[in-house]
This record gives sequence, C-alpha cells and structure tokens, in this order.
Amino acid sequence: MAVLNRMDWYDLARTTNWTPTYVTEDELFPPPLAGAFGLPQNAWEKYDEPYKQTYPEYVKVQRDKDAGAYSVKAALERSRIFENSDPGWKSVMKAHYGAIARGEYAAASAEARMMRFSKAPGMRNMATLGCMDEIRHGQMQLYFPHEHVSKDRQMDWAFKAYDTNEWAMIAARHFFDDIMMTRDAISVSIMLTFSFETGFTNMQFLGLAADAAEAGDHTFANLISSIQTDESRHAQIGGPALKVLIENGHKAEAQKRVDIAVWGAWKLFSVLTGPIMDYYTPWSTASSPSRSSWRSGSSPSSSAPSPTWAWTCPGTGTSS
Ligand SMILES: [Fe+2]
Ligand SMILES: [Fe+2]
Repeated sequence: MAVLNRMDWYDLARTTNWTPTYVTEDELFPPPLAGAFGLPQNAWEKYDEPYKQTYPEYVKVQRDKDAGAYSVKAALERSRIFENSDPGWKSVMKAHYGAIARGEYAAASAEARMMRFSKAPGMRNMATLGCMDEIRHGQMQLYFPHEHVSKDRQMDWAFKAYDTNEWAMIAARHFFDDIMMTRDAISVSIMLTFSFETGFTNMQFLGLAADAAEAGDHTFANLISSIQTDESRHAQIGGPALKVLIENGHKAEAQKRVDIAVWGAWKLFSVLTGPIMDYYTPWSTASSPSRSSWRSGSSPSSSAPSPTWAWTCPGTGTSS
C-alpha cells in the first residue's frame, strides 16, 4: 500500500483545534494554565513548528537512540573507567547528575502543560514528544549513575540531591520551580525551551560530552549526546510562540520572560561550573602537566596536583 509522505498530511493532521460548544474557550483552556495572553485559538493556529516529526518516526528514532546509549554502557561496564577516573571528573559527574536527573523528570510535567493547555496545535504535538523525551532523560540519568553507587556512595546524589538543602541544589530547585513548575504553557515554552534549553542545555550537554570523551568516559559522553539530540528538537518549541506574541503586540512580556530565564540559567551554570572549572584548574598552571599530556597517557593522579574542589554530600560525612 502506498504511504503518503509526511508533509502531504502533517499540517492537516495536527490541526486539532475546534470550536467548543459545551464549554467556553476559557474553560477549555483556563488562562492561568494556557497563558495565551488573551489571544484566541485562531491567533495561536498560526504557530508553525520548525521541526516536524510524526509519532511513528519518533518511536523508531528514539528506539535507535536508546539502543545506542544502552549498548555503549553494557560494552564498557567492565572497563574500570570509573575506578581509574580522575577525582575531579567524578566530582563533575556527581554535580551533573545531582542537578539534572530529577530536573529532567520534572521537565516532563512542564512539557505536559504545553501538551494539554497550549492553544497552538503544533505546540501540543511537539510537546507530546518532548514529554516522552524528558521521561527518557530522567530514567537514563538515574539508571546510569546507579551502576557506580556500590563503588562510590556519592553517586546516589543523582536521586538524593534535590531532597537536600545543599546550596547548589537550592539554586537548581528554585530555578526549575520558577521556569517549569509554576508557569503557564506559553511562558514554559519561552522560559524552558527557548531560553534554558537553548542557552544552558546546549552548553552543558555538548561541552560536557566532549569533556567526557577526553576523560575516557565514553558511556557518559554517549549518554548526554543522545539526550542532547532530543533537547535540540524540543528546544524549538518556544521560537514560534515568540513570533505569535510579537506579531500580536506582546513583545515586552515575552522579553521579560526571556530575561528572567536567561539570568537564572546563567546563575545555575556558574554554580555547576565550580566542579567543572576545578577539574581543569590543576592543568592550567604552567608547572602542571597539560591536559594534552594527560590525554596522551600520563596518569593525572601521579603527575598532577589533585583538584582542590570536593563535592561534599550532607549526611554521608564523605567527600571526594
Ligand atoms: Fe531533557
Ligand atoms: Fe528538555
């Protein structure tokens, strides 16, 4: 049987708005959750997502991504990469998993708000896929560090960190509450996807994947590269929403949301770069071995000063 090309039917199939007759438009899309800026459904129907993907395409691609990430993990499980890693690199992983893993799970709820309450059908479609993305990210970033808990108890911070009052986690928790959990669908699209996922996640996941590969941690490099391919898709949810807002005279309100989210993302990045910068600090002084000499084989633990920064977990009495 002949199969239609995606673009022969996509625009029509995702045009799922209708005129409600049993309830008002405000009852169907409550303003505190929809955040439609007073614009009716037909204004939001002009929303045109730049990245179009169908559900069957999504399932196939995601299955392949999971197969890749889990295969690399399985292949390298006995390689003792973790045991032989530089302590600074372990601190970077603990900081990353602690600040990100459960935030990813929370992001599924933010995507679900766009999926249900946005008046833009294209946004609802993209956010449906985005929600499943974030569930995958939460699951993987809890599962992958669990492998190391028996070797280093601090790796349990992937799950535990958000339940503590450690200062960096207070910053992360409050920031994500602000941009994801307490905002309407349109504000989430601007603050989470357009601002945070473009401005922060890009740097964190692409930069750190390169660092992981340099550190020899190919499981971690593969994991966050795989996640970033999802992020770079659903980060495009907010752009067309900005266009609709600007065309309808709401540029100032949109700009305010960008400013709040970018400022918060920058602060969170500076919190997380503590362990990351310390990882590199020993190699940046003239008397220390260069990172390239370390990469070429000399052992950092025997030929370079230890990182001065330590990730201390309240309640464990230990630090790396
Ligand atoms: Fe994510
Ligand atoms: Fe995301």
